[in-house]
Amino acid sequence: MKFAKNILCIGAGYVGGPTMAVIAAKCPGCKVTVVDVNEERIRRWNSDDLPIFEPGLLDVVRSVRGRNLFFSNDVVEGIRAADIIFVSVNTPTKTFGHGAGMASDLQYWEKTAHEIVAHADRSKIIVEKSTLPVRTAEAMECILQENKKGIHFEVISNPEFLSEGSAVKDLLEPDRVLIGSRQTESGRKAAQEIAAIFAHWVAADKIITSNLWSAELSKLVANAFLAQRISSINAVSALCEKTDADVAEISFAVGSDTRIGPRFLNASVGFGGSCFKKDILNLVYICRSYDLNEVADYWQAVIEINEYQQERFVRKIIKEMFNTIVGKKIVLLGFAFKANTGDTRESPGIFVAGKLLEERAQLVISDPQALENARKELSGLDGSVEYEPDPYRAAVDAQAIAVITEWDIYRKLDFAKIFASMRKPAFLFDGRNILDHQKLFQIGFNVFPLGKPSLTHFK
Ligand SMILES: NC(=O)c1ccc[n+]([C@@H]2O[C@H](COP(=O)([O-])OP(=O)(O)OC[C@H]3O[C@@H](n4cnc5c(N)ncnc54)[C@H](O)[C@@H]3O)[C@@H](O)[C@H]2O)c1
Repeated sequence: MKFAKNILCIGAGYVGGPTMAVIAAKCPGCKVTVVDVNEERIRRWNSDDLPIFEPGLLDVVRSVRGRNLFFSNDVVEGIRAADIIFVSVNTPTKTFGHGAGMASDLQYWEKTAHEIVAHADRSKIIVEKSTLPVRTAEAMECILQENKKGIHFEVISNPEFLSEGSAVKDLLEPDRVLIGSRQTESGRKAAQEIAAIFAHWVAADKIITSNLWSAELSKLVANAFLAQRISSINAVSALCEKTDADVAEISFAVGSDTRIGPRFLNASVGFGGSCFKKDILNLVYICRSYDLNEVADYWQAVIEINEYQQERFVRKIIKEMFNTIVGKKIVLLGFAFKANTGDTRESPGIFVAGKLLEERAQLVISDPQALENARKELSGLDGSVEYEPDPYRAAVDAQAIAVITEWDIYRKLDFAKIFASMRKPAFLFDGRNILDHQKLFQIGFNVFPLGKPSLTHFK
C-alpha cells in the first residue's frame, strides 16, 4: 500500500510507543514506524506482552500493528524512509561531570541528531518530542546543518503532555497540542504539516502554535506547576498534623475556588515518575546558568518539600511503631509511582523501601503491575524483601501496611480479612489518603492518614 506520509519515531518508550500508536490509529493514510536500539523493547512491542502497561494501549496497538504501525530496530532504514522524524529518546538527569544531578543528559538526543545527518538523503521535518532544555532546538539545528548534502531540516518542538496511567485517553483527548517552530516561512509551513497530523482528531482550537523556545520551555513549566501543587498541599499536610485540621477538607475548600481548581491537590507520600523531578532540576539548572538564582531557589524548594514529605512518612512509620521496626514485617501496598502504570521510576516507594530496610524491617512489596520493575529498583539493596502480587497473602503476619500507590483495587480490599491475618497491634499508614480511615479504625487498625488526625487504640 502507498502511504501519503512516512512518519518515524526514534525511541519506543513510554512516550514514543503510545503516541505513535494513536497517530497510526487516527491517520490511516500515514505509515508510522517506531525504532529503538533496545531489541527487547521492540520484540515486546511486536508481541501482546507490551513493554509498558497503559490502560487501553494493547487494543490500540493491535488494531494498527502491521497495518500502518511498525516497530523495528532498524534506525538507519527508518531515517532514510521518513518524511517526518519524531525524536522521543530519554533525556534523564546527568549523573556525571558538569551539571551532574541537575542538567539533562543530552547524549541520547545528540546521538540521534548525528544519526539523522549521517543517513538522511533528503529534506525532513525533525520533531522534538523528548522534553528538552529551552534552546535545544538551536543545537539540533547546528548539528543538522553540518550535512554536506545540501538538504534542509526544519526543527519543530512538539512536547508531550500525556500522563502515564492515562496516556491513551490523554493522547485521544488532549487538553492541547503545542507546536513550536521558527517564525520563518519554512518554519511555519513545517508547523502546519505537524498540526495537520493532529487535526485528524484534535479540534483546531486545541492545536496551539508558538515560537520554538516557548514550546520547549512550556513543557518544563507545565511539569513544574503540577509538581508545585503537590508540594504545596503536602507542605500543608504537615501543618494539618500539628493542628488537627484535615488536609482533605482543606483541599476541597481551596480547590472549590474556580481560580484554583480541584486537581493535583491530594496530599500524598510525594510525587514520583521519570519527569517531575528531572524537569524541575533542569529548570533550576537553566535558571542558575542565567544567574537567576532567586528563581532557581523557588523551584528547587518544590523538590525539597517532596523529599521532606517522603522522609516525614518514613519517620512517622518508625516513630508510631514504638521507634523500632527491626524484624517487623511491613507491607508496601503499591510500588508504581502512580496508579494504572507499571512505571516505578523515582517512585516514593524506592525511598520508603530503602529507609525501612536500613532500619532492618522485613518488607513485602505488593503491586498489580510494577513488581518486575520493583525488583530491578531494589536489586542492589541489602535486607529482606519479598514480592507478592496478592495483597491478602502479602499481609499475612505483617505488623503494618503502608499504602504507596493509589490503585483502585486497594479501596475495595476486605480489610477485616486482612486485619485478621496480621500481627497485633496492626498499623496502617495511608500514604495516599485513599482508604476509609474510620472503618479501618473500627476494624481494629491503628490508622495514620496524611494531614489528618491519627486514629489509634492506644490509651
Ligand atoms: N514518560 C512520560 O510520562 C513522559 C511524558 C512526557 C514527556 N516525556 C519525555 O519524553 C522523553 C522520552 O521519555 P520516555 O519515558 O518515553 O523514555 P523511555 O526511556 O521510556 O524511552 C526512550 C527510548 O529511547 C531509546 N533510545 C535512546 N537513544 C536512542 C537512539 N539513539 N536510537 C534509538 N532509540 C534510542 C531507548 O532505548 C528507550 O527505549 C523524555 O525526554 C521524557 O522526559 C516523558
